[in-house]
Amino acid sequence: MDIIRVEGGHALGGTVSVSGAKNSALKLMAATLLTCGRTTLTNVPDIADVHVMGKVLKGIGAKIDVIDEHTLEIDTSAVDSWEAPYELVAQMRASTAVMGPLLGRFGRAKIAMPGGCNLGARKIDLHILGLETLGVSFDTDHGYIHARATEGLVGSSVALDFPSVGATENLIMAAVRAKGETIIDNAACEPEITDLATMLNEMGACVRGAGTPVVTIEGVSELHPVEHRVIGDRIEAGTFLVAGALMADAAGIEVVGFNPTHLGMVLKKLELMGVSYRRCDHGVRIRRASAFEPVDIQTLPYPGFPTDMQAQVMILSALARGGSVITENIFENRFMFASELVRMGANIRIESHHAVIHGVGNLSGAQVVAPDLRGGAALVVAGLVAEGTTEVSSIHHIDRGYEHFTEKLAALGAAVARTTVPDPVEG
Ligand code: EPU
Repeated sequence: MDIIRVEGGHALGGTVSVSGAKNSALKLMAATLLTCGRTTLTNVPDIADVHVMGKVLKGIGAKIDVIDEHTLEIDTSAVDSWEAPYELVAQMRASTAVMGPLLGRFGRAKIAMPGGCNLGARKIDLHILGLETLGVSFDTDHGYIHARATEGLVGSSVALDFPSVGATENLIMAAVRAKGETIIDNAACEPEITDLATMLNEMGACVRGAGTPVVTIEGVSELHPVEHRVIGDRIEAGTFLVAGALMADAAGIEVVGFNPTHLGMVLKKLELMGVSYRRCDHGVRIRRASAFEPVDIQTLPYPGFPTDMQAQVMILSALARGGSVITENIFENRFMFASELVRMGANIRIESHHAVIHGVGNLSGAQVVAPDLRGGAALVVAGLVAEGTTEVSSIHHIDRGYEHFTEKLAALGAAVARTTVPDPVEG
């Protein structure tokens, strides 16, 4: 099995360039289904989740040419099926993002029910309720959802109970081909939604208000293929910024290739913790903090503090001069990382959806297991500052969303390597 081995205590310096945003690229790939022809996506991250979405698209008849490591040409002319099979949805829940586009193009979709994942139950009831309002009927059998808009999609007003990212995206992608106007109230405002709306508008759609809680979509009868560049990954950027706050040398490290506005609340919390940074061209230069102040954080939909940065920032709280509380409001089961950090010497108590953290003087390297994507990356980052060696296993989680993670850290000066060791279970 592959593990990542990190030797703590090496200072970081230089510049790291983040890849395109996973959570944008996946939805943009799905959105190509709305048109017939060749769409080119640039700045696509070369990560496992993108490969899974590629398989979903190929499975329904799309042709994908890899022009270079970060450029995909997706030809949707021969798409003749509308099914996302269980083996792919089980690997990656975001496969359900094809539901909106398939409904928009064919008026039907057959999607495996995603089930829970290691972040919790992760229902899709809001996707379904919203699409029903647009005239879609749903049946389920044998673990599949059959969605049909027999009379065609009809624009309508949809108020989401919660600003779900996935539901907002599926609704926008269906509504661009509906008859008339759709208004989504309490829509998610994440930058990846704005990126999706930008590409859809380039394709000829009429989406207004993306990035705000009210999105208005005027349906159009046809969309055309375009070339579009995926925005930089704010969460990958935030992960490197935390690494810099812990271990940068006196000159600091520069994290580039993303829009710092997308990390507004994270940067604000870092500042409150005593971390100094300044914005530079296309990114942020960050210095190592001599000490971290305790700060309370709660995860919230954008522009609140992102749940996808909760684990990384918990490392700083674990080393802060005092007690902090981190409250997780988005996912019911996103504190598994905390138990692994405790194995590295952190003092963290979980009470329901709160993590109560008492800062300790230092962390010590240990063998730990990546619980999920962000928690896995955070464990590698914790290893950079821990005394001795940290070995992170189950790193397939990290491969899902971080391109060349160890190579990028090593280029900054970290003593980190991916290596294959015998599986302890198999002996
Ligand atoms: N929810 C429902 N019903 C729904 C939809 C969501 O109850 O119909 C609940 C979920 O169970 C969850 C919460 O609402 O507790 C938030 O879910 P949301 O739909 O907003 O998230 P998502 O679309 O499933 C995306 C990202 C996540 C990111 C969240 C929140 C993708 C592929 N995934 O998930 O990214 O954490 O938004 O920002 O875009 C990651 O990259 O590591 C990751 C988990």
